[in-house]
This record gives sequence, structure tokens and C-alpha cells, in this order.
Amino acid sequence: MTKIRSWLITGGAGFIGSNFVHYWCRQYPNDKVVVLDALTYAGNRNSLVTLEGQANYSFVHGDITDQSLVESLLRDQQLGGIVNFAAESHVDRSITGPDAFVSTNIVGTHRLLEAARKVWLTEGMASDHRFHQVSTDEVYGSLGNDDPAFTEEHSYQPSSPYAASKASADHLVRSYQHTFGLQTTISNCSNNYGPYQFPEKLIGLTICNLVRGKALPIYGTGKNIRDWLFVEDHCRGIDRVLRAGQSGGTYNIGGGTELTNIELVQRLCDLADEVIGASPELQARYSESPASKGVPCSSLIEYVSDRPGHDWRYAVDISYIERELGYRPQTNIEQGLADTLQWYLANESWWLAVMDGSYQQWIDSQYATSDSSLGNGQPS
Ligand code: NAD
Ligand code: TYD
Repeated sequence: MTKIRSWLITGGAGFIGSNFVHYWCRQYPNDKVVVLDALTYAGNRNSLVTLEGQANYSFVHGDITDQSLVESLLRDQQLGGIVNFAAESHVDRSITGPDAFVSTNIVGTHRLLEAARKVWLTEGMASDHRFHQVSTDEVYGSLGNDDPAFTEEHSYQPSSPYAASKASADHLVRSYQHTFGLQTTISNCSNNYGPYQFPEKLIGLTICNLVRGKALPIYGTGKNIRDWLFVEDHCRGIDRVLRAGQSGGTYNIGGGTELTNIELVQRLCDLADEVIGASPELQARYSESPASKGVPCSSLIEYVSDRPGHDWRYAVDISYIERELGYRPQTNIEQGLADTLQWYLANESWWLAVMDGSYQQWIDSQYATSDSSLGNGQPS
């Protein structure tokens, strides 16, 4: 069990990071939490606003590639743990602009590791310390329909620049444990969903578009499969790893719910039809939504060109973390989707503020340039 009581949470203003910061401050109110975030398009201080003013919480606007800043935070604030969520995280953006992925995901992780090595090991500040890397199942590549789910032993076969950058970072983390004795752990999780997700990923985008009567883009055939993990369950999984995981260990965290993209979007449409259809207040607020006109939201589904190199299927085997650390997801997909829809309906100002003009322009340019001839990775 870790004795660490003071943490640097990088990328804590992003989707999973902000959920984790709320989770941690609730679970361990006496721990010190310092968030370091560059506030890129995906970072949002509004996601943490309810923590402002709390004695054990502070926010630093800065970049993980700034090693001297990270060193001084570790030293001055006496921080013994780093949980690294900071990343460029969207596969589509890694296809149109991979440079930022190399810079933040690879170089940034390396700078964090160097800062940790210097302060915790060379200067000897923290004999009990932990560097935790939040990674992804996408490092393992893509599965066919009948393949067994990814275990921790699966070889790394990343397909997108995003996945390749995360794989590189994982290798660096392992090398710092092996070579320098830095105490590290890695978790590789499946697709997260829940509150505070930037509406460029499938679930957030679907909700924000269906309430406004905008098209719901489905790439390729819509038959690609993802394993969906409610973000709070992911936070619980990381908690187990931080408190009881072995240094040098890798733990897969999944939600245990595999769905094709079209099944998932259909479920969200059905849910929205029911929730909006039963509420005159929501019908007045979202008059452009088909659900407000008695038309199914699924009428907004539009098949568009496939993502280049689109991974076919991800599925995560969680038997190792279940056996070793007693982790199990607690939120089933019905409850998770219902809670997520309710959160977006109740927090319209949050997502309207992040969906500004530049984001909309970026989305529009994606559909103009995508090229279906590059294939969707479907096994033949
Ligand atoms: P996100 O894009 O919502 O948030 C990323 C955060 O990192 C933002 O707050 C951003 O401002 C910050 N950031 C980016 N570059 C930075 C830099 N150079 N310095 C400091 N901060 C920087 O991402 P997310 O969905 O919350 O993902 C968090 C982590 O989980 C990532 O490492 C991602 O690879 C991993 N992951 C995410 C998912 C998912 O479904 N979202 C699945 C598997 C793994
Ligand atoms: P996404 O949320 O971008 O996560 P990832 O690519 O990391 O799995 O996409 C989830 C799946 O949904 C993926 O197969 C791509 C697909 N997708 C669409 O069909 N339409 C969309 O508008 C988006 C954003 C994704």
C-alpha cells in the first residue's frame, strides 16, 4: 500500500484527468493535489471550478515538456507521485497533425520521467514515490471479431500516430523502471465515456449533435467495435493500481461492454428519444432535435468516409487486475449512458463553451478530406 499523500496530476483539466481529480479529492480529502495542465483545446478549467479554493488543491498552467517547471513543482511542493494524463488523445487529430502527439505524448512523458528521476532519485527527495502512466488499449493494435481480448502480454502493434506515440511513452516508462529503478506503473484502458468529455469523441459528439438536430457521422460501415468504460470505473481502477499495484507493473482496465459503433449510437438515439420525448422543457430547449418533433434521433445518422487505418476492434481482458487488485467495473452501459446523457443535458453551458468556431471548422475539414480508399482495417 502506498504512503504517498501528495500528487502531481498532469492533464487534470482534460476529460479523464478532471474526473480523476474530483474522484481523488473526494476519496482522499487530506491528500495534496497539484494539477499541471497546458489548457490545450481539450483542457478546461471549468471542469475543476468546484475545487477552486480548497486548501489541498491547486492548479498550475504549464506544459509537461517544461522539465524545470516540473522539477520545481516536485521539489517545492514535496510531491511524491505523478499521475500522467496529459496527452493529445484524439486519433483523428493524430492523422491530420501528428507532430503535437510526438511532442506531448513522447517528449512530454520523457521530460516528466527525467524530472522525476532527478528530484526523486538523484536528489533523493522521495524514497517512496510513484510515476503512473495512463495509457491506452490502442497500443496493442486491432483485433478481429473472434480474437481473444488484449491481455497485458499482447505485443505492441500500434496503428495510428496516436497509438504509436502512447506506445513509445509506455516503453520509456518501463525503461526508467528497469534502468534507473524509478517506481512506475502503467494502466492501459479501453474507450472511456462520461461527464466532461470533449465532444469530439463518439459519445460526446453524438449527444451534442442529436440535441441540436445535427448529423451523427458514422465512419465506414459502423461495425467497428469498442469496449466501453465508464470514466468513474476507470478512476477506481487507477486508484487500485496506485495503492496496491507492483512497481514495474502493467494493468489493463476495461469496461467489459463491447458494442459496434452503430449499436452504440442507436442506443443513445433511443435513450434521447425517450428522455426528450417525455420532457416538454427539453423539447422547448432543443426544438431542433428530432426527438422534440416526434421523429427518431436515429434519422440523423449519416455514414461518412472511413477513418484512414481505422482499427477494427478493441477488447480488454481484465482478469489480471481483477485477480491481483480486486478491480471490477461497477457501472453497466445502460446506467453509464443514461448518466452521461443526463450530465450533458444538465451542463449545456460547459459543452457549448468548448464547441467554439475553431472546433466546428476542424470537424468540417475532417469530412471534406477523409479518404475511404485507405480502408478501415476490417479483417478479411
Ligand atoms: P483529453 O484530450 O480530454 O485531455 C488531455 C489533457 O491534457 C487536456 O487537459 C490538455 O490540456 C492536457 N495537455 C495536453 N498537452 C499537454 C501538455 N503538453 N502539457 C500539459 N498538459 C497538456 O484526454 P483524455 O481523454 O482525458 O485522456 C487522458 C489520458 O487517457 C490520455 O493519456 C489518453 O491517451 C488516455 N486514454 C484516454 C482514453 C479515452 O477514451 N479518452 C482511452 C484510453 C486512454
Ligand atoms: P473515438 O471516440 O474517436 O475513439 P477511438 O478512435 O479512440 O476509439 O471513436 C470511437 C469509434 O467511433 C471509432 O471506431 C471511430 C468511430 N467514430 C465514428 O464513427 N464517428 C465519429 O464521429 C467519431 C468521432 C468516431
